[in-house]
Amino acid sequence: MVRVLFVCLGNICRSPMAEAIFRYLVDKQDLSSYISVTSAGTTFETFGQDMHIEAKEKLDENNIPYKKHKAKRLLPGTYNNFDYIIGMDESNVNNIIKMLKGDPDKKVYKLLDFTKTPRDIADPWYTGNFTKAYDDILQGCKALLDSIIKKYKIETNEEELNKEEILEKIDDNIYKFTQTSPNKEKITEYLAIAGRLLEIKTSISAFENSEMTDEEIMPSLKKYKKQIDEFLFRFKSK
Ligand code: 4NP
Repeated sequence: MVRVLFVCLGNICRSPMAEAIFRYLVDKQDLSSYISVTSAGTTFETFGQDMHIEAKEKLDENNIPYKKHKAKRLLPGTYNNFDYIIGMDESNVNNIIKMLKGDPDKKVYKLLDFTKTPRDIADPWYTGNFTKAYDDILQGCKALLDSIIKKYKIETNEEELNKEEILEKIDDNIYKFTQTSPNKEKITEYLAIAGRLLEIKTSISAFENSEMTDEEIMPSLKKYKKQIDEFLFRFKSK
């Protein structure tokens, strides 16, 4: 799992908007089994509060769903719980690094660092400009997701593959898996995945030897491919 944490000052305007927008983008590409997302603030002032009404209105206007929100504060000692810790502005980043006692793995960023024009996202709590905050956050979330997909080589559903291409990808990934050598802690998981891959290969041969048409086989092949992608991703990222 790639674990993303968005952080702002109050956790009622920018970071919950980022959480909702990013989750929406992740779900749209069917990547929720690869990427998790949450948010927090650096102050106690707003602890337990709902998302700001104008932040919710912006999300509603753009048909972005969001969960019931209660502002949380960034907890010291949680540095290792995340792969990306993403502030909205410079002062968020400074506060994060202070509260988490450094950034040895260089995983603290500003959201717009992922775009071609790195800059702060102005706090709409003070500026009143929720439209600008929404637009900046959307731009940052899209760039962040692209960057994660590239870095972790996550397979997305964007391209429509034909049967031969899916079979080729399945074989490629099974081959890649056989080339990894598990350490002691991972051996049980390795064997479980290997067993499942063998079952999948057996089912595919059964399909190929059956009277089924490509159209009938495709949904299962797609499901198998996704399962294999997820296995390998989880195995690699642990
Ligand atoms: P946010 O905005 O950091 O984008 O959630 C703020 C909301 C509330 C406060 C500060 C910033 N406040 O101090 O109450």
